[in-house]
Amino acid sequence: MNTIHNFSAGPAALPWPVRERLADEFSLDEAHTPSIAEVSHRGPRFAEVAERLRAGIRKLAGIGDEHEVLLLQGGAHLQFAMLPTNFARGRTAAFMLSGHWGEKAFAESARITESRVVASSADEGYQDLPELGHLPADAAYLHYTGNETIHGVQFEQPPAAAVPLVADMSSEFLSRPYPYADLALAYAGAQKNLGVAGLTVVLVRRDLLDRIPDDLPQYLDYRTWIESGSMKNTPSTFAWFVAAEVIDWIESGGGLEKLGARNRAKADKLYAAIDASDFYSNPVAPEARSMMNIPFVMADDALTKTFVEQAEAAGMPGLKGHRAVGGLRASLYNALGMDAVDALVTFMHEFERKHG
Ligand SMILES: Cc1ncc(COP(=O)(O)O)c(C=O)c1O
Repeated sequence: MNTIHNFSAGPAALPWPVRERLADEFSLDEAHTPSIAEVSHRGPRFAEVAERLRAGIRKLAGIGDEHEVLLLQGGAHLQFAMLPTNFARGRTAAFMLSGHWGEKAFAESARITESRVVASSADEGYQDLPELGHLPADAAYLHYTGNETIHGVQFEQPPAAAVPLVADMSSEFLSRPYPYADLALAYAGAQKNLGVAGLTVVLVRRDLLDRIPDDLPQYLDYRTWIESGSMKNTPSTFAWFVAAEVIDWIESGGGLEKLGARNRAKADKLYAAIDASDFYSNPVAPEARSMMNIPFVMADDALTKTFVEQAEAAGMPGLKGHRAVGGLRASLYNALGMDAVDALVTFMHEFERKHG
């Protein structure tokens, strides 16, 4: 039986050693020992998981006491709303748009407070990064999307701006060394690089907290989550456990330096295969190309369905492009090794030979 390489954009593949750990945790013993998902979130067994997860995120993100680590639910979508609700009321929320998810964050913010797009590469079909324009004098922050999962566009480093930076890091969180300490706030769902759906990590700088209005519903107020240790209500304990295990796996593999280099090498190999062929192409400007999500098309789009079906039959599911842009997309998150990219490149060559 060949190994299946899962290229799903999210929920996405888990590292195999984490799958083994989960199988062990949920194994059926004669005594029916409760698994971690069956015990109180306030008990000592879960306290160890929570502490391990928080400390691991702090260490890998390189943040100190000036930032809080919040472990929330609601996905990036809740952050699209919580952010302006907490920090931009009565001010302008500024947005840099480099793809689909930035548009979504902006649209939600515009329902809540004055919001303005100060940079956008929409006119170039989101095939490049936008140039930062003039910031409004009352800008509460500048929001950008670190990695645009659908368009395959990634900021190598945070943009330079003289206002607090806020980043949607959903599809690249903890995939490489990154200056999180320079950000006022970063948020990311765990279901791509950090485990399973149900957990959203938010890193927030403490000096922003005195901007929060006092009349917010408690659930939507970041301070509620700081004061309760992210346990105002029952947390997604299973997702916390998986994330803690993924972090242990990252650390045991040599940390983010090593992981980032591996992710870089994986992406380089796939881009090289795409660029070397007239059959496949990726439209994104080289300096803006994502390391995580690589969209590509074939010269003959009518072949896309066949490619997806045959790739899946060959043990490579998840390659269908997002419905908003079509084509193909390979998501190369942390859990995938170089063997996955090698298998895909071999399949692409073979497909081109047959259909090119
Ligand atoms: C960059 C980015 N932002 C936001 C989202 C939406 O995340 P959620 O489903 O956790 O709200 C996604 C999901 O794929 C994403 O990739």
